[in-house]
Amino acid sequence: MLHIQDLRVEVGGKAILKGVNLSIGVGETHALFGPNGSGKTTLLMAIMGFPRYVITGGRILFKDQDITGLSVDERARLGMGISFQRPPAVRGVKTRDIVNACLESRGRKDGQAVGELAERLNMVELMDRDINLGFSGGEIKRSELLQLLAQGPDLVLLDEPESGVDLVNMSLIGQMINELLQKDLKRTRSRSCLIITHTGHILDYVRASKGYVLLEGAIHCVRDAMEVLDSVKEHGYEGCVKCLCQSE
Ligand SMILES: Nc1ncnc2c1ncn2[C@@H]1O[C@H](COP(=O)(O)OP(=O)(O)O)[C@@H](O)[C@H]1O
Ligand SMILES: [Mg+2]
Repeated sequence: MLHIQDLRVEVGGKAILKGVNLSIGVGETHALFGPNGSGKTTLLMAIMGFPRYVITGGRILFKDQDITGLSVDERARLGMGISFQRPPAVRGVKTRDIVNACLESRGRKDGQAVGELAERLNMVELMDRDINLGFSGGEIKRSELLQLLAQGPDLVLLDEPESGVDLVNMSLIGQMINELLQKDLKRTRSRSCLIITHTGHILDYVRASKGYVLLEGAIHCVRDAMEVLDSVKEHGYEGCVKCLCQSE
């Protein structure tokens, strides 16, 4: 589904990613760990193609196609979707408008589908409000996931879906992610996912196979996701720098 080869990215003229390699197979979920400022969000934004994140080296292959030079909307049309760590509030644009636009782009115009989706996800009151304006942390993340469900991407990029979320919302968000990644009966292939987690809490709900630790723009560790999480909990990211888990 996704191959990233020696990816180098600059933001605001500063080199942030210094040669990242990573591959995600069809139907696989991988977790990306790392301290604040290590470049996790930069990696996701570069995969999605936001122009502020300038690719200075390496390439990104998506479904066997080199997408390194494609725009955000071209990547989205190919089947990539993202949930932002901190999405912007947009005055005058209702949550319903965005969800409808996502459904329409897939040829599903019925308003009933939106209503059902919103009801199932406990989002009914948020549908006619300006998107993200005054939303709580949990509401923002639920709204991001609702948009992804409507969009139906083959590769889902999730940037800290648990940040700013209370325990009740956590379990709902976990359910929504699992629903998003579940094999849809009408589809022959299941979805792939790269999930950024700072705390690892989301992995209580969502199963990830591989885990990576990103330190100062480079991947320092590729192991079973739960092993990475246990090791980070025990030794902190300083342990990753010294690679303490190898000696366990
Ligand atoms: N627009 C920007 N201009 C300059 N530096 C930036 C910009 N956005 C992010 N950075 C820097 O890039 C580094 C990595 O940030 P980020 O990818 O957000 O890390 P993480 O998500 O791991 O916390 C940080 O040092 C951050 O300050
Ligand atoms: Mg981040």
